Amino acid sequence: MAEKKALIYEGKAKKVFATDNADLVIQDFKDDATAFNGLKKGQIADKGVVNNTISCALFTLLESKGIRTHFVKKLSDREMLIKHLTILPVELVVRNIAAGSLVKRYGIKEGLVLEQPVIECYFKNDALGDPLMNDDHVVMFGLATREQLAEIKTQATKINEILKAYFLERNLKLVDFKLEFGVHKGEVLLGDEISPDTCRFWDSVTNEKMDKDRFRLDLGLVEETYHEVLSRITGKA
Ligand code: TMP
Repeated sequence: MAEKKALIYEGKAKKVFATDNADLVIQDFKDDATAFNGLKKGQIADKGVVNNTISCALFTLLESKGIRTHFVKKLSDREMLIKHLTILPVELVVRNIAAGSLVKRYGIKEGLVLEQPVIECYFKNDALGDPLMNDDHVVMFGLATREQLAEIKTQATKINEILKAYFLERNLKLVDFKLEFGVHKGEVLLGDEISPDTCRFWDSVTNEKMDKDRFRLDLGLVEETYHEVLSRITGKA
């Protein structure tokens, strides 16, 4: 059993605590919600519980399909025991359908189904507003080696295939999502969380937005939607 020790990091949506084992840390999910690089702030009741539960279920699914992740086990409603990673400061966004910043940046129509998944790299740097980067930037600025970048893109493509099928069975289209990877004992593992904060889901029949866009865009029914996504996952485990 890992014993919870000092707070070592507090992010916008999670706290990370040390344990008595240097290889393991505890990720503690908060109800705090931010958008537009922290410009919009609020709370979503129960979000921490919902996102921890969803993330635990999805990491378990991915591990069962051969994806190596930081997940060790669910400790409580809001806490997950994970392997201690050195996070690569590059966020990978995988897109299946045009939405969000893709629509804004390139002037394409929201809802356009992309013939092939599009993978983008963003520099994980709040002070700079997480700017979009190409592969050469990622490698030349030392965010990841060329080999690590190739590896995490391969993993992201596999994860997309697994999650797309999983969510479609739950009447959700996986529009896009963000992944973070890190290094643990020389091995690259999937880290962070996978939840309605980090994915876009649209109802497969109505195309209703079923994710953090409800908070970002003030669409209402925010808590209800997070609970609905959870029940579509746990109700059909
Ligand atoms: P975007 O369209 O705003 O670039 O977002 C793409 C996906 O990445 C979307 O599913 C939400 C997720 N995302 C995060 O997890 N964290 C972030 O800071 C941003 C901007 C997006």
